Amino acid sequence: MVTRKSSDPLTSQPSGTSSRRRVAPSSTHKRTSSAVEYFPKQLSLPSLKAAAADCKACDLWKKGTQTVFGEGQRKATILFVGEQPGNEEDLTGQPFVGPAGKLFDNALEEAGIDRKQTYVTNVVKHFKWEPRGKRRIHKKPNAVEIKACRPWLEAEIAVIKPQVVVALGATAAQALLGAQFRVTKQRGQFLESTLAPYVMATVHPSSILRAPDDETRRLEYREFVNDLKKLSKV
Ligand code: URA
Ligand code: SF4
Repeated sequence: MVTRKSSDPLTSQPSGTSSRRRVAPSSTHKRTSSAVEYFPKQLSLPSLKAAAADCKACDLWKKGTQTVFGEGQRKATILFVGEQPGNEEDLTGQPFVGPAGKLFDNALEEAGIDRKQTYVTNVVKHFKWEPRGKRRIHKKPNAVEIKACRPWLEAEIAVIKPQVVVALGATAAQALLGAQFRVTKQRGQFLESTLAPYVMATVHPSSILRAPDDETRRLEYREFVNDLKKLSKV
């Protein structure tokens, strides 16, 4: 359990912005912009998850069925961060359980990592989508939504204190390592960070599913497994 001091940002960030506690919104400020305003007094995974269920810090709560908080071990040494829940995650309330999650499970297993010993979460905790026929198509979260939701991720990291934070895909990598970060150039490298002793970025499992042909998909999957294998040494 981590006790929050209002003067302490939970973690420092590469962008230089800190998640300072904001004053309670007055009647003239109906819209809030940071999840910090919904924080519980004591920070533990169960209390954070319960508080996040009521978060309305950005407009995405109106679109999604429910908040999809992170899931896994409190004592995890590896914390994975995806972009945002997808269709199945939105319906079940759990991260990475849809097609990308299944590919992720297989890749972890091949890399010799037990997902149950890790912690898996997302930069943004509500599903952002737009209708296409009967389907709900994933839409990228914008900078305002990412900033509003970031305190939940920082709190998860502060409670778990993982050895390594792994960004899955460009959205997570850029949210954690700055807008200049390029997954294509620096994937699979252990980078020093203020978030955890190390941060590593790799591709998003969905990008492997979207590969144009089987051969490319097979190669990209192998590279993904190779990146994950490096984690079994931490
Ligand atoms: N994609 C993500 O980034 N996160 C999930 O939880 C599922 C799919
Ligand atoms: Fe709150 Fe994040 Fe959901 Fe926005 S996306 S309402 S900040 S939990």
